[in-house]
Amino acid sequence: MSGGLEMLGWEQLEALCGRCSRCRLRAGRNKMVFGRGSRTADLMLIGEGPGRDEDATGIPFVGKAGQLLDRILEAAGIEANDVYIGNIVKCRPPGNRIPAPDEASACLPYLRNQVYLVKPKIIVCLGATAAKYIIGEDIRITRDRGKWHERKGYWLMATYHPAALLRDQEKKRPAWEDFKNISAKLAELKVAEGE
Ligand code: URA
Repeated sequence: MSGGLEMLGWEQLEALCGRCSRCRLRAGRNKMVFGRGSRTADLMLIGEGPGRDEDATGIPFVGKAGQLLDRILEAAGIEANDVYIGNIVKCRPPGNRIPAPDEASACLPYLRNQVYLVKPKIIVCLGATAAKYIIGEDIRITRDRGKWHERKGYWLMATYHPAALLRDQEKKRPAWEDFKNISAKLAELKVAEGE
């Protein structure tokens, strides 16, 4: 999956994640949260890690933040069948703390394998944690959100995590601008590919 390891297919990968105990998060979780959405999506969204609702259901972004995310996507004209959603870590960090660097490194090869399988055109990092591990250490969400980075054939962007929008109304407008840009980029890339 990384470091020269071979990429797995969906079934094998999900089974491997289900029995993973590569980090301490395994001990405290209820369900492993693999991903949701279309496995051939052009847009992949990456969050931080499961919260309480996700840990209970095994599905990412089903709580309040996820419901807001779904409403934003719909309002931006992004179709549900064009989106795949995953997280930096697949097991809930206790008390919803930020995943530790060793937990993120243990889990990232699985996410890389998912990216390899989905082959999205665009990857959007929701919040600082995803941005740090996917785009780079130096990224500052308030300063750098909304900027496009082209890397290895993927278009990358970071925006605010939907939970941050629930806490701070001021972030809603810039996040909305980001999602409108994402929707426009998606349409542009589809035209370029003749889809
Ligand atoms: N927050 C995240 O980062 N991921 C989820 O799946 C839910 C909430």
